[in-house]
Amino acid sequence: MIICSCNAISDQSVRASLTGENSPRTPGAVYRCLGCRPCCGRCFATVRAIIDETLSQSGAASTEAGAAASAAMALLDTNRDGHAQGACGQDCASCAA
Ligand code: FES
Repeated sequence: MIICSCNAISDQSVRASLTGENSPRTPGAVYRCLGCRPCCGRCFATVRAIIDETLSQSGAASTEAGAAASAAMALLDTNRDGHAQGACGQDCASCAA
């Protein structure tokens, strides 16, 4: 199922990125791992839930909930009007994606 409409990322892609010893532990790191950047941020909670679920199943714990949200939001670019701007360069406020 697609969980990030801005980047067409599926829950399976997120889960796959979380395997391995040095796998991402924050939503921002997941985006970087998948070669994209967050745009609108609507999917952050879902990505975080998948991270927490996956890590709890593997015995690891996500300890960076608040910091991760801040870091992920810091990845958002803003244009001159202060609107979020995606990796595509378009203003997210006017993007239909
Ligand atoms: S839905 Fe994922 S960044 Fe917009």
